[in-house]
Amino acid sequence: MNSNSLVLAIANNKGGVGKTSTALNLACAFAGTRRKVLYIDLDPQGSASVSILRTRPISIISSGNALIQGSSLVPCIVPYQLAKFDLIPASDDLTAFCIKKADDEHKEHCLKEALKSLRLIYDIIIIDCPPALNLLTINALCAADELVIPTTCDYFAVEGLGSLMRAFESLKRKGLSTVHLMGIVCTIYNQGEPLSQKIAKDLKSNMGQLLFNTVIPYCSQISEAPSVGKPVILYDKNAIGSKAYLSLAAEILSRYQQQHQQ
Ligand SMILES: Nc1ncnc2c1ncn2[C@@H]1O[C@H](COP(=O)(O)OP(=O)(O)OP(=O)(O)O)[C@@H](O)[C@H]1O
Ligand SMILES: [Mg+2]
Repeated sequence: MNSNSLVLAIANNKGGVGKTSTALNLACAFAGTRRKVLYIDLDPQGSASVSILRTRPISIISSGNALIQGSSLVPCIVPYQLAKFDLIPASDDLTAFCIKKADDEHKEHCLKEALKSLRLIYDIIIIDCPPALNLLTINALCAADELVIPTTCDYFAVEGLGSLMRAFESLKRKGLSTVHLMGIVCTIYNQGEPLSQKIAKDLKSNMGQLLFNTVIPYCSQISEAPSVGKPVILYDKNAIGSKAYLSLAAEILSRYQQQHQQ
């Protein structure tokens, strides 16, 4: 195994909190540091895959099928030349994976097994999870070394963090996962909104060091970028959202290096 390989899951069972935007822009930022990066779209909605490939991926070997069969994910890899990272697109079979593997004894570890050979090739593997605490997210939490949770600063999103934390702790307690919670990042943050400010402050006092210093602000270019098939970092490098994602990437690498020096 590439001893320096890092598998990073971007997860939150709440929908629309910026998981895909975060995962895509982190992949782009890490690729910009000459690291070899793989982005796995584990969400059957396939938002990132559609944005990058400009069409729903049609391939004979889909990631869902490979996970069901226990075969290699290598034939599913597509290069994303513009951003200099590779992609494993989502597929409808990812939904089938949840159904077909439901009673499998090793159902939580299919992705972890599949990533063993990919860890030899890539420095960083980023997993974009679906907005559900289903078998796909569980597989991501069992395959990953580190977990990053994006959350918006609204009441329901912060309330919803509890169920993800409980699932995360339960997997660790059962010895199914060794993933480490690297941090929580506030996304789509509207600085002008008193409620967002209050929730961000409460998150800081409850989560302490777990909250990343970087906040991803509301940034219209982030929402425009997918329509032209680019992460915002490539769409408009001067946008506040691009600078924030570059800063988050640097913070993640710094936290990771600090952990490994200890
Ligand atoms: N910082 C931001 N500023 C403005 N819009 C944003 C920002 N981050 C994300 N968005 C937009 O919000 C929507 C949801 O973002 P995104 O798809 O990244 O979230 P998600 O958590 O992956 O959603 P899902 O749960 O459906 O997978 C998208 O339209 C995206 O372009
Ligand atoms: Mg998403």
